[in-house]
Amino acid sequence: MIVSPSILSADFLNLGRDVEMLNESQAEWIHFDVMDGMFVPNISFGLPVLQHVNKVAKKVLDVHLMIEDPDRYIDAFQQAGAEILTVHHEACRHLHRTIQRIHQSGMKAGVSLNPHTPVSVLEEVIEDIDVVLLMSVNPGFGGQKFIERTYDKVKQLKEMITARGSKAMIEIDGGVNLETGAKLKACGVDVVVAGSFVFNSENPSETIASLKAL
Ligand code: DX5
Ligand code: ZN
Repeated sequence: MIVSPSILSADFLNLGRDVEMLNESQAEWIHFDVMDGMFVPNISFGLPVLQHVNKVAKKVLDVHLMIEDPDRYIDAFQQAGAEILTVHHEACRHLHRTIQRIHQSGMKAGVSLNPHTPVSVLEEVIEDIDVVLLMSVNPGFGGQKFIERTYDKVKQLKEMITARGSKAMIEIDGGVNLETGAKLKACGVDVVVAGSFVFNSENPSETIASLKAL
């Protein structure tokens, strides 16, 4: 599985140091959580921070937009360094068009689903997207408990991907640790996001390696 550590749990006063650590680690992607205080009840960081992270990051920048009407910022995030841009199904009135715009802008397109949203809503777009990001906690905060229903959603999503001949990768976000990570791997998940489990550990680089070794 690809590991995408979420810098929402990094030390913001030493963000450059933490990104250098990720550069040297076995993480393939860096997960960047943007929150607007509207779509989710929290505000994190945005474009200026991403521009600076992009100057030092050697890994794929995996940007997760937890914002209303993300169409307004697609090109701006591409210019700031995003390589994968994930929007929420619940935040897009014209999701098909949003996916097209992300591709036109030169990025891979991801669609995220909140825990309450069934995977069936993706049936008409599954062939058009590169990543499905299933939220395994309610978005807005790091350090929450993994929602067990997620495993069933992964199985349903895998069936849809296979039936439609889609190339979409399955990424899981929230509450990932060695225990949930091992079960997700057994379900055939492609990417795991891990925030607090990595950055609150004594040796984040070794923690990433232990997720990779699952
Ligand atoms: C939650 C964010 C996650 C968060 C995960 O809204 O989308 O990416 O950083 O944090 P952990 O791994 O601590 O659950
Ligand atoms: Zn996220």
